[in-house]
Amino acid sequence: MKSLNRAVFVFVFDVGGKTWKFYDWSQITTVAIFGQYDSELMCYAHSKGSRVVLKGDISEKEIILPARRAAWIKQKIETAKNQHMDGINIDIEQRVKRKSPEYYALTALVKETTEAFHKEIPGSQVTFDVSWSPECINHDRCYNYTGIADSCDFVFVMSYDEGRYESYIRMGISPKKLVMGVPWYGYDYTCLDLSKCIGITEVVSLQAHVCSFAKLVTQRLPCSKASGHQVSYKIIMNWEKNSLSGVLWDKEQKAPYLEYKDSNGTFHQVWFDDPRSISLKAAYVKEHGLRGIGMWHANCLDYSRGSVAQEQTKVMWEALKPK
Ligand SMILES: *[C@@H]1O[C@H](CO)[C@@H](O)[C@H](O)[C@H]1NC(C)=O
Ligand SMILES: *[C@@H]1O[C@H](CO)[C@@H](O)[C@H](O)[C@H]1NC(C)=O
Repeated sequence: MKSLNRAVFVFVFDVGGKTWKFYDWSQITTVAIFGQYDSELMCYAHSKGSRVVLKGDISEKEIILPARRAAWIKQKIETAKNQHMDGINIDIEQRVKRKSPEYYALTALVKETTEAFHKEIPGSQVTFDVSWSPECINHDRCYNYTGIADSCDFVFVMSYDEGRYESYIRMGISPKKLVMGVPWYGYDYTCLDLSKCIGITEVVSLQAHVCSFAKLVTQRLPCSKASGHQVSYKIIMNWEKNSLSGVLWDKEQKAPYLEYKDSNGTFHQVWFDDPRSISLKAAYVKEHGLRGIGMWHANCLDYSRGSVAQEQTKVMWEALKPK
């Protein structure tokens, strides 16, 4: 494998299929395979000097016993060696209460996995996915974030809001241990169903381009999960053509959104990231010395060969480069 000397890491999640043939490999430092193992992808990535890593998921109940952790790690290392992989991305996303047995076990798992991988596969990379806030808001994911970041190569932050990085840094995590995750998908909100969210957000009229869920998007309150659903950038760009609004820009959230009416006549508002908002995030990564940027997930773009799709896809990849 060629060694890479890129200034900013680009960490890519791939969920399967063959769209990887059209990725911008000149930028990719690491690709995490979250779909089926694909030896063609592995070889191609290596030929471009990119690392390929396994997905590591394990239930929080299984991590408590040291012997179970050791067995899991051993098995992952065997898989990585057999498949010529260069590390592992641990993705747990489970409820862990502060100071519970799982809380300590998770930090231990990350530390033990990192030590074992580094020893068994020299130069390998062990990373961990953390939620958008280190403050236990999201589903009780109360991890020992500093312990975890110290124990692995870096953490991938599934983030929507720059402010959160300051909380991670304030906790004592070096910016060099943080990779900023940007979504290549958006959230589609049905605007008229206000019942669940009243009281948490302001209810403002639709005419002013304000669907009442708008405020919830970046804050990711539980209610937004119940009311919005994820759609890929590719689909959003398709809606744009028939949208009422075209792409609008929210100055406060520094995010684009659009509105459309579905076939039942119901209004929807869609919040997402586009090249403009991603460029701002890439600039933040550079300015604050973060390790890199990445996206969930690379397959969300339109990799078909039409000229509009090709241009749209190219500018999304370009937006990852700090200016
Ligand atoms: C987090 O983990 C580190 C490393 O294992 C440990 O030193 C520290 O005490 C832990 N912090 C908390 C709050 O549990
Ligand atoms: C229209 O309404 C029907 C019945 O409630 C529902 O099944 C369908 O999914 C709706 N279509 C859209 C585009 O939301």
